[in-house]
Amino acid sequence: MEQVMKNQRVALITFDEQEKVFHLSNSEISYILQIEESEVLAHVYFGKRTTHYHNHKKYPRRDRGFSGNVPLNEDRTYSKDTLPQEYSGHGGMDYRLPALMIRRENGSNLLDLRYESFQIQEGKPNLSGLPQAYIKNDTEAETLIVTLKDREEKIYVDLSYTIYRERAVITRSLKVRNETNDPVMIEKAASFQLDFTNSGRFDEVIALPGAHVKERQMSRQSITDGIKSFESRRGSSSHQMNSFIALTNHATTEFTGEAIGIHLVYSGNHSFEIEKDAIQQFRVIGGINPYNFSWELQPYESFQTPEILLTYSDQGLNGMSQVTHHLLRERVARGRFQYQERPILVNNWEATYFDFTSKKIEAIVDEANELAIEMFVLDDGWFGKRDSDQSSLGDWFEYQGKLKNGLKGIADYVHQKGLKFGLWVEPEMVSSDSQLNRNHPEFMMKEPGRQPSASRSQHVLDFTRKEVRQTIETQLRHLLDSVEIDYIKWDMNRSLSDVYSVSLGKQNQGEVLHRYLLGLYEMMENLTNDYPHILWEGCSGGGGRFDAGLLYYMPQSWTSDNTDAVERINIQYGTSLAYPISAMTAHVSAVPNHQTGRVTSLKTRGDVAMGGVFGYELDLTKLSSEEKQEVAAQVEFYKKIRQTVQYGDFYRLQNPFEQNIASWEFVSKNQQEVLLFINRRLANAQPEFHEVRLVGLSEEKLYQNQIDGKVYSGSELMTIGLYFPDFYGDFQTELIHFMSIDEGE
Ligand code: DGJ
Repeated sequence: MEQVMKNQRVALITFDEQEKVFHLSNSEISYILQIEESEVLAHVYFGKRTTHYHNHKKYPRRDRGFSGNVPLNEDRTYSKDTLPQEYSGHGGMDYRLPALMIRRENGSNLLDLRYESFQIQEGKPNLSGLPQAYIKNDTEAETLIVTLKDREEKIYVDLSYTIYRERAVITRSLKVRNETNDPVMIEKAASFQLDFTNSGRFDEVIALPGAHVKERQMSRQSITDGIKSFESRRGSSSHQMNSFIALTNHATTEFTGEAIGIHLVYSGNHSFEIEKDAIQQFRVIGGINPYNFSWELQPYESFQTPEILLTYSDQGLNGMSQVTHHLLRERVARGRFQYQERPILVNNWEATYFDFTSKKIEAIVDEANELAIEMFVLDDGWFGKRDSDQSSLGDWFEYQGKLKNGLKGIADYVHQKGLKFGLWVEPEMVSSDSQLNRNHPEFMMKEPGRQPSASRSQHVLDFTRKEVRQTIETQLRHLLDSVEIDYIKWDMNRSLSDVYSVSLGKQNQGEVLHRYLLGLYEMMENLTNDYPHILWEGCSGGGGRFDAGLLYYMPQSWTSDNTDAVERINIQYGTSLAYPISAMTAHVSAVPNHQTGRVTSLKTRGDVAMGGVFGYELDLTKLSSEEKQEVAAQVEFYKKIRQTVQYGDFYRLQNPFEQNIASWEFVSKNQQEVLLFINRRLANAQPEFHEVRLVGLSEEKLYQNQIDGKVYSGSELMTIGLYFPDFYGDFQTELIHFMSIDEGE
């Protein structure tokens, strides 16, 4: 069916009445779904754009033993057990993983979803209370809402699909509505389902597993028989398994082949499940982890799932990452700093830990000023009676006497020196030894009659409760109103446990984790809206809550507590698969490195950290005068290149998870500036001559190496490439800066 023009704009979504086919498409992608016989909503295709679809790919029919009929349909060749579907309920002879499970008052949990109606709207509906991809105006996107209904009961599912006009992106989420007269219990509500036939297009998945100080290690695996799942059960998106996966083909490289990126815009428990069946079809389901989740849905109420972002490219993993980077940077991150160059900071954590005085801090600030660093961040230890991690979380007022002229004195000192002032907080936590806990022991999350488990000697506040959130928010507001603060690092240093809320009934305890997230998001929305001049940075013991949900409130996040340059290469490389560089903070720290004991040169540490939002995390007063000179040069250099690093296009070139070398590249929007980072991890006596070919340059432009003055055409850098320098020793890096020297530019 031809696309129709709407007010001069090509419609992004069409419905073919005769074939009952919905086609969402723009110049890059197509997403096709079809109402099949007996009103079952089938999935047909997601991928590179097709201009037309003539319903030639209707799912074939075959009578397969033990795959029963679609309920109430006599056709033995037509079964929900094999039909690729858009969103599956439970039962009805579909034995694959369900996306939605609902238990009714009488204990029954059969949910046989059938097509009911649809609407096509301009724009994108707002998901109230949840982070999401947004639009700037209604013409930017169109949304299809397809309503499914249980065959017997008035339980509805509104599947929402938004397609952007100029992005290879589909966003999905859904609302479950209970229009029966009884409450029902939602036991699982995935945000999306994608069923694949045996097309050979996708046979691998990339996930980002890890650990504290070892985040987002790229793991590429075949999709094999049975069920594979990638999930977090820790109450946060977690270090252990990031809330992103990519589907690829075994032949997909960084530059060629198909890839689908799947981001859950959520910071709590998540799961992605992939089930491959006997006929080589597979189903992918993702959303809030059903583990320890249930939601009692009252009559005439609805439940909104978090959103999923599906990004597509046929230009390999870099293509997919770039679509994803642009989407997260341009339509998920918000606020004043969304496109602003981020200040180069020095943070006192690894310089002093809890042990600091005004004198010490002022000395660091003086050095920072000398070195033209732009912001000083006072980390943990400034509040309550906090001299170690044993106390004071929950007491967000300053530690009287620890800083001679108080917090305001430090803030003023920093400002007088012309730097910005940043501060660390950890609002979701409470120490047993705190005024807050002494006054309100009932605020701590714990199971009735049991001692809650401690982690880093701290406990979690019950953020499902308004009064708990308000107590913390009031303290934070007082702090932000009384001291001039330009930046906040919002930390979270443990996983959730003892998940129970006294404010909820016994049948509602499965709601605690999701309500915690809703409470957290509400507080973040309030504070980031009311203090828009503050640059907010997310953190969770490094990158334990580095996810698309948090990015909606805070445009950058601490990537890892691991500041070892060598391990950082892998962490940053893995992170870049799913997140824009403007979100990824990276600091130079002291050697021997505090996490690994490794010694690397200041140059190597600087080169690696310049691959992100740059800063320092060491005692500047302990640097030698040569080191200070080198730091000053790094600061000056990063200021020159940061627009391209933070807002240019990023390409991964050589993968450190696979070899002894790594390289990546940044190209400015106008292709005038190019930054090439190369690294060789370990030396050997008879080294190979490694080479690298650049990408994304203008073929005709001439590019000059800003250090040695050599000139190359974009074409030769991309086709013939360069040798790595003849590195000597372990952990060597080079950061080569090219500028176009074309006439008139
Ligand atoms: C964990 C963070 O990742 C560190 O940078 C530091 O802020 C500590 N917490 C402070 O407790």
